[in-house]
Formats: sequence, structure tokens, C-alpha cells
Amino acid sequence: MSDVGVGLDLRKMPGHWLLARMGKRVLRPGGIELTRAMLEALEVSTSDQVVELAPGLGVTTRSTLTRAPATYIGVERDRVAAAQVRRWLRPAVDRCVVGSALETGLDAESASVVYGEAMLTMQSPRQKERIVREAARILAPGGRYGIHELGLTPDDLDGTAKAEVGRDLSAAIRVGARPLTAPEWRTLLEAEGLEVVAERTAPMHLLEPGRLVRDEGPLGAARIAFNVMRTPAARARVLEMRRTFRRHQAHLNAIMLVARKRR
Ligand SMILES: C[S@@+](CC[C@H](N)C(=O)[O-])C[C@H]1O[C@@H](n2cnc3c(N)ncnc32)[C@H](O)[C@@H]1O
Repeated sequence: MSDVGVGLDLRKMPGHWLLARMGKRVLRPGGIELTRAMLEALEVSTSDQVVELAPGLGVTTRSTLTRAPATYIGVERDRVAAAQVRRWLRPAVDRCVVGSALETGLDAESASVVYGEAMLTMQSPRQKERIVREAARILAPGGRYGIHELGLTPDDLDGTAKAEVGRDLSAAIRVGARPLTAPEWRTLLEAEGLEVVAERTAPMHLLEPGRLVRDEGPLGAARIAFNVMRTPAARARVLEMRRTFRRHQAHLNAIMLVARKRR
């Protein structure tokens, strides 16, 4: 189990930290499979300077490091999560700073790969723009930017339905959630001079049994189920989240996009 969210009320804490406290490590909507697709499309290699925005518990960090990039920097808002990420890093080569993706403090054009998962959805429209602008600023020309977020479907979903999904999700996960349709995610990236080169979607099955086993392994999934069963406040929250995801499953998915900064 992770120490993230220690001291917070289980009934009110952000859904991702609640799941982490129950032992869940993969905290993004498309699971490990969409993460793999994103890393494939990002083509991380030994010559890359990688920046990960909001690494959370560092699950993707570990996959990235198996590709032995030249350097890795994580920028994570949560101090406890950042400390956890540091456990996977190569001494004197990589670092994870406690900071905001809105303003990383990193040099312009200092990265060849930037990515972030399950972190833009929870930002306001203005913050989404600022984070994508910051990613584009720190990327060198030709660099790649990957995102893996919650999507809305179909592409022409009407405003009322969008607002209803966002409102229900935000209430269930206790964090403002504003997913976008695929064209809206694309526009967000293109507005900052990025050219989308890869796109894939997956069902939003974060809390479905099959996905739990694929993401966490059979033992991990069993441990999470056990922890949830013996913690009534957490059980109520997890069931509430799953009910909400299922109620809106016709309009929710997970989406990953990889874009390239023009040379
Ligand atoms: C749902 S979790 C996803 C964690 C991880 N990327 C994953 O997919 O497993 C959201 C993460 O975003 C971080 N976060 C949210 N806003 C941030 C910001 N502006 N700058 C840096 N980290 C942020 C949170 O602290 C948390 O670790």
C-alpha cells in the first residue's frame, strides 16, 4: 500500500489516492495497455531526455527506465508520490522534483520526450492549455509529447451530456474531472504547435475485474479486493466510483495521443 493521502479522510480524498491506499498502482483510465501503446509511439531510446509530468506512483517511470533514456526528470505535485518515484531512479542521472506541470522550471527545449497520464483531465480548461504550452516549451523541435487521459464519445456528444458526465465523475472521484472528446484533445495539442502522429482509445475499465487483473496482476488485484472489503468507507467510495463509470460507459473512454513539435 502507498502512503499517499495519509491523514486524509477516506470519504473525501481524491479517488486516485484512495485507490493507491488500497494498493492500486496503475491510476490511469486506459490501464497498462494504453500506456504501452503510448510508450511505443513515443519511441523512447537511449539518446532521449525524458520528462514525465505527474508520475504518481512511478509505474510508467519504471517502464520508461527499462528503455535506458539518457536522462529522466519527473515533475510531481505530491511530495509523498515524488519520494516513491525516486526509489526507481538511477542515482546521479535522474531526478523527480516536487513541482507543478503548469510551471516546471525546466529549460526551454531541454527535453526530447515529454508525457503525462491521467493529469490533464483533472485541470480546468485554462490549466490544460497552460500545461500543454509548458510541455511544448520544454520540448526541443522534433520532440514528442504523449498524453493518456479520459475521453468523451461520440465526437459530437452534446454539451448537456458532457456537463452531466463531468459533474457525476467529479462528485465520485472528489476531484474536478473534465474529459474531452478526441477532436477536443487533438485541438488542445495542435493549438500549441504540436502535430498529432498517433492516437488510440480503450474502454474506461479502470475498476472492472478483468482490467484490474491485467493492470495489477492476480495477486495485486486480490490484495486490492481484500483491502477494499475490510475498509467500509473505502468500499463505499470504490463502489460509488465504479457505479458512476458504468452509468456513463456509453460516453466515456480512455484515449492516448502522441504529438510531435514541429522542427
Ligand atoms: C490520477 S493520478 C495519475 C498518476 C500517474 N500519472 C498514473 O497514471 O498512474 C494524478 C497525478 O497527477 C498529479 N498532479 C495533478 N496535477 C498536477 C500538476 N499540476 N503538476 C504535477 N502533478 C500534478 C497528482 O499529484 C497525481 O500524482
